[in-house]
Amino acid sequence: MRSPRFALLALLPALSLAQNATNSSSAASYVAGLLGALQSLNLTMLEQAAVSLANTTTGAALLAALPEGNKTIFAPNDAAFSMVPANITSNLAELGDILMYHFVSGAFNATQFAMSPNHTIMRTFLNDSALVQLEANKSQVLVAENMGGEVMLLNQPQNVTVLSSATYENLVIHVIDNVLSVPPALTDLTTANISALLSAAESTNLADPVIASHGLTIFAPTDMALTGALSALGEAATNLTLIQAVLGNHIVNGTTLYSSSLMSGSNLTSASGEPLMTMSNSSGMFVMSANSTAKVVQSDILIENGVVHLIDGVLLNPMSDPSAAASAYSMATGAAATQTAMETGAVGATGAAAGASPSSSGSGSSGSGAMGLTAGVWSAGLAAIGALAGAMLLL
Ligand SMILES: *[C@@H]1O[C@H](CO)[C@@H](O)[C@H](O)[C@H]1NC(C)=O
Ligand SMILES: *[C@@H]1O[C@H](CO)[C@@H](O)[C@H](O)[C@H]1NC(C)=O
Ligand SMILES: *[C@@H]1O[C@H](CO)[C@@H](O)[C@H](O)[C@H]1NC(C)=O
Ligand SMILES: *[C@@H]1O[C@H](CO)[C@@H](O)[C@H](O)[C@H]1NC(C)=O
Ligand SMILES: *[C@@H]1O[C@H](CO)[C@@H](O)[C@H](O)[C@H]1NC(C)=O
Ligand SMILES: *[C@@H]1O[C@H](CO)[C@@H](O)[C@H](O)[C@H]1NC(C)=O
Ligand SMILES: *[C@@H]1O[C@H](CO)[C@@H](O)[C@H](O)[C@H]1NC(C)=O
Ligand SMILES: *[C@@H]1O[C@H](CO)[C@@H](O)[C@H](O)[C@H]1NC(C)=O
Ligand SMILES: *[C@@H]1O[C@H](CO)[C@@H](O)[C@H](O)[C@H]1NC(C)=O
Ligand SMILES: *[C@@H]1O[C@H](CO)[C@@H](O)[C@H](O)[C@H]1NC(C)=O
Ligand SMILES: *[C@@H]1O[C@H](CO)[C@@H](O)[C@H](O)[C@H]1NC(C)=O
Ligand SMILES: *[C@@H]1O[C@H](CO)[C@@H](O)[C@H](O)[C@H]1NC(C)=O
Repeated sequence: MRSPRFALLALLPALSLAQNATNSSSAASYVAGLLGALQSLNLTMLEQAAVSLANTTTGAALLAALPEGNKTIFAPNDAAFSMVPANITSNLAELGDILMYHFVSGAFNATQFAMSPNHTIMRTFLNDSALVQLEANKSQVLVAENMGGEVMLLNQPQNVTVLSSATYENLVIHVIDNVLSVPPALTDLTTANISALLSAAESTNLADPVIASHGLTIFAPTDMALTGALSALGEAATNLTLIQAVLGNHIVNGTTLYSSSLMSGSNLTSASGEPLMTMSNSSGMFVMSANSTAKVVQSDILIENGVVHLIDGVLLNPMSDPSAAASAYSMATGAAATQTAMETGAVGATGAAAGASPSSSGSGSSGSGAMGLTAGVWSAGLAAIGALAGAMLLL
């Protein structure tokens, strides 16, 4: 059987829709090659979705930026796509947001993912403010690990596994067996064993500021740890000032710190304005406040405005220092605002070229040499593939 990629090249002269011959022929061949690569991986529904996406403003901007720099695509296979409800696949805005969460800045080879329990954190292109509220409008991340030779994407309602990998030009394509879900709000984190914490936050008026904050790191005591500590506190557990201070000592306000940033040890300031330290050794990662130490039992649970790390104890620090909290917050937001470029390597990994190259997310505009992959090029590419499929049937 003839290779579809070679047959496709023969069809390229037919893609004559564009006005600028130089640019459009390279754009057309890039798109046609990509669509051909997706087709040879049997990703026909993703291919269709990409073509539909080219018709939306944000989708067009993302697709136009595809040839610039390295990117990684987590590509749901057709079986995965067919499980997505029709009211989502037919809604281009919804579909666009979901697909943006499958596109990652930087090349992540299948061999490079951290071994469990360590995680590789990747910056995606999803930054719709209706779904993501991180500091400095950063895009949401994905968390992956290598578990016994299989690459898994974490924080998902179902297990998501990389089935196979391929490359096309500057793109790494990992085929996955489920469509990825976008991280929920803290209060919708139903599976995380933190309902006691959520109700404590609610009853101390902390829930609203937490939900309204942009960029949070929350060290969340498990239900067992929190209920135990509250009963040990006795009468003091009803002291609102004290409980607010204690809970605030579990939060870093204004910075989303994944396990990859905390691993090497860090001195932080809590939302109550007290010192908060992390360290790790061969038995795991630990967090300390005043005289309390707790172990991180599950890290990198993503929420729309930050990250949650589950801990096995309560940091019983009743002290607070509002002015230290305010200045830590303004330093954090100031620092975040200076990081304008997207990371091109693993987020938080030391030595990685974080934000080394300028990102073109957001504006679909073309710098010099930009190909400008417009909606027309995508439709034409798909038409060519369709013609090819038709031609092959005749052979
Ligand atoms: C076509 O693209 C080339 C290279 O980007 C550019 O120099 C040229 O001005 C463009 N021509 C037209 C007609 O837009
Ligand atoms: C694509 O599907 C065809 C037919 O179902 C199968 O023979 C082929 O192995 C599949 N290719 C890949 C890369 O999964
Ligand atoms: C894209 O939009 C054009 C015109 O707005 C329309 O004709 C075309 O069918 C659309 N394509 C897709 C795949 O939605
Ligand atoms: C893209 O990735 C390759 C290897 O994966 C690397 O050699 C190259 O420098 C990267 N390019 C950019 C622009 O980061
Ligand atoms: C899609 O339909 C389901 C029920 O059939 C509903 O729960 C969900 O909210 C709908 N989603 C959208 C985006 O309309
Ligand atoms: C990426 O993985 C492929 C095999 O899947 C390998 O051939 C290639 O050298 C790897 N590239 C890098 C930069 O590690
Ligand atoms: C996880 O990362 C730490 C710190 O980089 C390292 O010491 C440890 O060996 C890693 N664990 C695994 C299983 O790779
Ligand atoms: C998900 O993966 C874990 C660990 O490999 C396994 O224990 C669990 O059964 C899997 N769940 C499903 C629904 O496949
Ligand atoms: C974070 O700091 C800002 C500014 O001081 C404040 O409005 C917000 O409520 C704080 N969030 C938390 C969770 O403490
Ligand atoms: C509540 O806790 C605060 C902070 O520890 C303390 O200053 C205050 O005296 C306590 N109030 C009561 C009524 O115990
Ligand atoms: C944090 O502070 C402690 C005590 O001041 C110091 O020993 C440690 O080196 C600091 N850690 C980092 C990562 O700066
Ligand atoms: C921590 O322990 C020291 C010495 O045992 C004690 O003096 C101090 O009050 C404790 N601090 C807190 C916040 O409990």
